[in-house]
Amino acid sequence: MKKKIGILTGGGDCPGLNPAIRGCVYAAEKRGYECVGLLDGWKGLVEGLTTPLNKDITEYIVMKGGTMLGTSRTNPFKREENVGKCLETFKKLGLHALVAMGGDDTLGVATRLYRDHKLNVVGVPKTMDNDLNVTDYTFGFDTSVTHAMEAAQSLIDTGNSHHRIMVLEVMGRHAGWVALYTAIASAADFVCIPERKIDTAEMLRKLKESYARKRFALVVTSEAAELPEAGEGVSKRDVDQFGHAILKDRGMGERISQFIEKQTGIETRFAVIGHMQRGGAPTLFDRMLATRVGMKAAELVHAGQFGMMSALVGNQIVGVPLEKATGELKTVSKEWFDTMEVLF
Ligand code: F6P
Repeated sequence: MKKKIGILTGGGDCPGLNPAIRGCVYAAEKRGYECVGLLDGWKGLVEGLTTPLNKDITEYIVMKGGTMLGTSRTNPFKREENVGKCLETFKKLGLHALVAMGGDDTLGVATRLYRDHKLNVVGVPKTMDNDLNVTDYTFGFDTSVTHAMEAAQSLIDTGNSHHRIMVLEVMGRHAGWVALYTAIASAADFVCIPERKIDTAEMLRKLKESYARKRFALVVTSEAAELPEAGEGVSKRDVDQFGHAILKDRGMGERISQFIEKQTGIETRFAVIGHMQRGGAPTLFDRMLATRVGMKAAELVHAGQFGMMSALVGNQIVGVPLEKATGELKTVSKEWFDTMEVLF
């Protein structure tokens, strides 16, 4: 009988999950394994929700956004009985190993299931936030920033025509990578990220100067940036099952835009692209990276290297301990502040 690998995708979806599933299925079948999909992240393992997975089914998903397996932010460790249910499902399905594709939260669960319950788990890193340690990039980031960059370019057109300051709010949670890369790639005049305190006087000076020069300016802000002078925003700060603040109601783009207009007297508009960043076909970079890390996960299973995650290090895909990737986020480092000084 063939050994069976279960595959799940957890946390926020992102472009590249489908190519990663495909890569894993192809590499697993090549080595004589069969695969089964678990639906909606850890919920699928808790409740035993499955779907067939094979080469035929996954052949053309390489170009599709989202995840064919569905996802959720279910945390089995929220309720101890759900951990037991995960272990039961694993056994009931006759799984040899589980490949968990996700960000810090999903892989944190994978780490604990391996460490505390000796489950044969291998991780695949994904997140549009690009905030996972040990891997140079996560798939999903390139596509999301490309969408954000295109949105910024559109704002430049309309801002230029109307002689306004435009503010674009992007996702990224507690890491400013999406905002930083979007701002660099679209020649923004100022960028606000959570890792660096905003120098308000400097921001206003810069925007006035840019406006005087070209009668237009662009600001890119991360959803999690802080500008106390612009008010605290919506007080509703719900948290998800992993204890993360849900930032969508924070209104950073709107508040910063109102603040700028008030302080400069220049007409200012804002736009929030929200989940549009997370959808759509993956870019070539994300298709390639996702396929490679997905394939590596099957290799790690075959080599019996459980508790590991596939990662991009330089140009190589290697196995790294899951524990090293989770626990601490990779946020924008101080070296990038010098780049910001030059460009903004
Ligand atoms: O972690 C990915 C991400 O897109 C963050 O950038 C964002 O803060 C969050 O997910 C949004 O979560 P949800 O899709 O649950 O609203």
